[in-house]
Amino acid sequence: MNPVAPPETVPETVPDSARVRTALLDWYEVHARHLPWRIGPKARRAGERGDPYAIWLSEVMLQQTTTAHAAPYYDAFLQRWPSVERLADAPDEELMAAWAGLGYYARARNLLACARAVAADHGGRFPDTEAGLLSLPGVGAYTAAAVAAIAFDRPANVVDGNVERVVSRLFATATPLPAAKAELKTLAATLVDVDRPGDWAQALMDLGAVVCRPKNPLCLVCPLNAECRAYATGAPQQWPRKAAKADRPQRFGAAFVLTRAGEVALVRRPEKGLLGGMAALPTTDWGAEPLGEIEVLALAPPGADFRLAGSIEHVFTHFPLRLDVWVGEGAVLPEGARWVAVEEARRSLPTVFRKALDRGLG
Ligand code: ADE
Repeated sequence: MNPVAPPETVPETVPDSARVRTALLDWYEVHARHLPWRIGPKARRAGERGDPYAIWLSEVMLQQTTTAHAAPYYDAFLQRWPSVERLADAPDEELMAAWAGLGYYARARNLLACARAVAADHGGRFPDTEAGLLSLPGVGAYTAAAVAAIAFDRPANVVDGNVERVVSRLFATATPLPAAKAELKTLAATLVDVDRPGDWAQALMDLGAVVCRPKNPLCLVCPLNAECRAYATGAPQQWPRKAAKADRPQRFGAAFVLTRAGEVALVRRPEKGLLGGMAALPTTDWGAEPLGEIEVLALAPPGADFRLAGSIEHVFTHFPLRLDVWVGEGAVLPEGARWVAVEEARRSLPTVFRKALDRGLG
C-alpha cells in the first residue's frame, strides 16, 4: 500500500458515486467470480436471469458461510430439491440433516418455512419485489434485497458484512460497528446502480471478498482506490471501526458417543435455542466450569461403561466450547435417542458433534 496521507488523516472530499459505480462495474466485467449460482455480467446483458428459487437458496446459504464452503451444499440441494415445491415437501428432519455442516441452523428452519409459504400461498413463484419477498416467513432485509436485485433486477440496496466493510472504508466512517450499520446502509444506498442492480450487488460483494479484504486489503489493485477515503489515510485496514467485543466466556461440557455394532445413539436438540432441531450426541449441559468425572458419569446414558476419549474445541458466535468426549458401548437406548449408522451420523450431525464423534471413534 502506498500511503498518500499521514495515517488517520481522513480527506475532506467524499467519494463520487458516479465514478464509484463506473469503476466497480468495469472491474466486475473482467473480474467477476465464476460461482455456481451466478449469471455473469455478459450473460446478464444478453438477457439471461437465474432461477429465483436457486438465487434465494444461494443467498440464504451464503449468509455466514463462505462461497467455497456453500458451493457443494448448493449443488446437492438443487439436485435433491430442484424446485421450491419439492423443497416445501421435504420432511423437516431430512432438510436439517442436509444442512448439517453449514451452521446457523435457524436458517434451515427459515428456509423450509419460506419454501412452504411460496408453494402454498404464491403458486410456487417467488414475489418479484423487495417488499413482496420481505413478507415471506424467514426472509429478512438482506435476503429480500439480494433476491430482488439478483433475480429481478430491482434497485435494492444489498448490504452484508462485506459491503459494510467496503462502504466504511470508502467513506472512512467514524462510528464503530455495530452502531454504524444504519449509516453504512444509507451510504450504500447512494451508490446502487439503478440500471444494473443485480451486477452492482454482486460486484460489491466480490470486491469485498477478493480485494477489500478484512486484513491485508489489496488496495493497489482496487478499482476504487482513487475514491477511497480510508486508502487516502494510508491505514485502510483500520476500517470498519469496531466497538470493543463483549466477553465471550469459555464453556465446558461432555458429549457421549454411545455405540453398538456400527451405530451410534443420536438425540434431537430442542427446537428452540442453539442448534435447534438438529441431530446431536447426548451431552451434559454446557457450563462455565468443567465437570468432574463422577458428575459426568452420573449424567451419562445408562447401561454402558464410558471412558474419556479426549476433547474437542468448537467456537460458536457467542462462546468457545470445550467438549470432553466419552465413549461407551451398550444396547440401552437413552430416552429420546435413536440408533443411526455411523456414516449417516457423520453426514447429518452439525460440525461440533461431528468433531466429537470423530474424536470418540478415534
Ligand atoms: N455473498 C453472498 N451472496 C453473494 C453473491 N451473490 N455473490 C458473491 N458473494 C456473495
